[in-house]
Amino acid sequence: MTNKNNPASAGQKNKTMPRVFSSLAASFLLSSFSLTNAQTAEEGIPGSYIKIMLIAGIFLTFLAFSFLFYYGMGEEKPEPKIHPFAFLKRFREHLVGAVPIEKENEILLEDDYDGIKELNNKVPPWFNYLFYATIIFGIFYMLNYYVFKTGKLQYQEYKEEVQAADIQKAKLMKSGAFINENTVTRLVDAASLNAGKNIFKTNCVPCHGPDGGGVVGPNLTDDYWIHGGGIKNIFTTIKYGVPAKGMISWQTQLNPKQIQEVASYVMSLHGTHPANPKPPQGEKYTEQ
Ligand code: HEC
Repeated sequence: MTNKNNPASAGQKNKTMPRVFSSLAASFLLSSFSLTNAQTAEEGIPGSYIKIMLIAGIFLTFLAFSFLFYYGMGEEKPEPKIHPFAFLKRFREHLVGAVPIEKENEILLEDDYDGIKELNNKVPPWFNYLFYATIIFGIFYMLNYYVFKTGKLQYQEYKEEVQAADIQKAKLMKSGAFINENTVTRLVDAASLNAGKNIFKTNCVPCHGPDGGGVVGPNLTDDYWIHGGGIKNIFTTIKYGVPAKGMISWQTQLNPKQIQEVASYVMSLHGTHPANPKPPQGEKYTEQ
């Protein structure tokens, strides 16, 4: 039956093809544009592919317009009014898949349990779809974790995190992040004292003299301390300084480990005989 013989359906039928084509064209054009953007971003997709998409899009746009013109836009007969969201209702009905009450007779089972009867409803489609989705998910999951091993299993992830934490910990230990004025201990090994000596040479000599005898700063070799002797007090003085009296705070320039080393070195100077010792300052300190 041609459209002319059936004008009632003409309005509906004629526009289906142009619509299909125009939406196809739109998606082709859109995806080719977004691909062009993606390409400039990371040069991932070959240019010829985008060109084909563009040409296909333009061609389909052309086709859509010819269809529209050929069948004539603006048919006199208006299309029957369908609610714009009617498809949502149909979709919902499909997902639930229930048999309408009028037709329940057809699926009523023979059994009768003291007047309680049973309907032979099918499993609701939404439930089946969920099931299919888990199967599809499972396939991708298996491929990802067990076949191509593109994903990491929990145990692997755990191992890597522990490894990273160990590296981090070693780094922190080396910088002495856990050393502070409460936990510091005096180092006596040659390597640490040597490191302390070098730190002293580069930073402390101008004010304390090359042998710790004192210049602007006090003599560090005698029994007398302004801020207390012993590793904890010395560490504290070096770390926080005495800015008002001209002793700098070193905590921004030396890490805790380095402060520990130089403090230990300072302690090793005790009892040595500097060339030009400054007279004692502060109070005599005796280790508890
Ligand atoms: C700019 C000069 C200057 C520099 C550099 C300097 N100090 Fe001092 N230091 C001082 C002065 C001044 C004092 C005395 C502070 C006071 O009178 O309270 C002092 C005090 C100290 C004390 C405490 C002495 C006491 O009797 O309690 C120690 C320990 C010390 N310095 C260690 C160092 C170390 C280690 C360095 C290098 C990392 C250093 N200082 C670098 C000027 C300096």
